Amino acid sequence: MADLTTKLFGWTLANPLMPAAGPPVRDAKAIKDCIDGGIGAIVTKTISTTAAPVPQPNMADFKTYFLNTELWSELPPEQWLEEEYPKVRKMADEAGMPVIISMGYTAEEIAELAPKVKPFADAVELSTHYIADDPKPMQDAIRAAKEALDVPVLVKMSPFREPQPAAIAAQEAGADGIVATNSFGPAFGIDINRGGRPWMGGKGYGWISGPALKPISLRMVYDIAQVVDIPIIGVGGITKGTDVVEYLMAGASAVGICTAAITKGPKIYGKIARQLNKWLDDHHYASVADIQGLTLRQQIPVMEKPPILIPEKCTGCNLCVISCVYDALYLDENRKIAIVEDNCFKCGLCISRCAFGALEPPY
Ligand SMILES: Cc1cc2nc3c(=O)[nH]c(=O)nc-3n(C[C@H](O)[C@H](O)[C@H](O)COP(=O)(O)O)c2cc1C
Ligand code: SF4
Ligand code: SF4
Repeated sequence: MADLTTKLFGWTLANPLMPAAGPPVRDAKAIKDCIDGGIGAIVTKTISTTAAPVPQPNMADFKTYFLNTELWSELPPEQWLEEEYPKVRKMADEAGMPVIISMGYTAEEIAELAPKVKPFADAVELSTHYIADDPKPMQDAIRAAKEALDVPVLVKMSPFREPQPAAIAAQEAGADGIVATNSFGPAFGIDINRGGRPWMGGKGYGWISGPALKPISLRMVYDIAQVVDIPIIGVGGITKGTDVVEYLMAGASAVGICTAAITKGPKIYGKIARQLNKWLDDHHYASVADIQGLTLRQQIPVMEKPPILIPEKCTGCNLCVISCVYDALYLDENRKIAIVEDNCFKCGLCISRCAFGALEPPY
């Protein structure tokens, strides 16, 4: 069994998985299900100084991506302060895990909320989703939180902004950690079977989360990890253990998951933690710490030769052959992979298409 224990801000988490702000942590009852589901730390749904006027409908699933237009918590902050946070604090203490309270958005709003959440928070997370590109409002919000609190202040980045300047500005303003990322957009989805109306309410726009978001958020984590030395929590499109492996290798210290817990239920946290454990075991890594930041020490590949063929592993599935747009691959008389080397453009696609290890990179 690999060691999933994760050190973050002086805490010791049982595993690096936490919910990302959203419906799976919409109130104390839902958070209990996430604790039972196997999270290593609690993150609560974003609150602001007023309840959000959440449009309805506000969620739709398209498998490779998910759209939402949920804004922040539809519950008034008073309900969080009087009912939900006290219950969450008690559950967290019993479970021995920290509580990260998500809040938004402006410095004025944070200055109002921060002293009120103080009794319940082991850390806070500030959403920058609805504040401008200019880093100043974000920095002002960080300073307002730092002024009122003596716990770590994390900043959650949106994936449609340049990550490095924003991360540097956040660290300069005193942020203790970065969460990357929120959902991407605005985007749009059409229900073609019901007259072509938009799927989402409100303005009709939605924000993309789920699997399609992963490469964007992963790039944000990778870029941010190169310019700051505070911990990063990777969020976006995680549905399985190997997604967590990618985020940790890109430089994340822990990860957050929202959409998969909506579509598959909160037991997904434990399942992903077990998949992560198995992957580490299978690849002879003793702990999550062993893979953290590995990609940051890797060279960008250069493909100077065609892929290496291992015909004995080839099942003859033909997947690489049909997608080699340069007509370099074919199956020989034994239905084993073969290549016309002169045709190979060294695009690398076939290596990712083969699920049987019959094609290997030449680098
Ligand atoms: C329905 C829904 C509601 C969300 N609400 C919030 C929110 O209140 N605050 C926030 O910072 N992010 C919110 N998010 C963004 C998620 O926390 C997360 O950053 C994003 O969805 C990417 O992760 P995922 O692909 O695992 O969902 C929400 C996402 C969804 C799908
Ligand atoms: S690397 Fe590209 S061009 Fe070469 S065999 Fe593979 S898919 Fe074809
Ligand atoms: S994808 Fe792999 S198993 Fe399938 S034909 Fe190509 S080399 Fe053989």
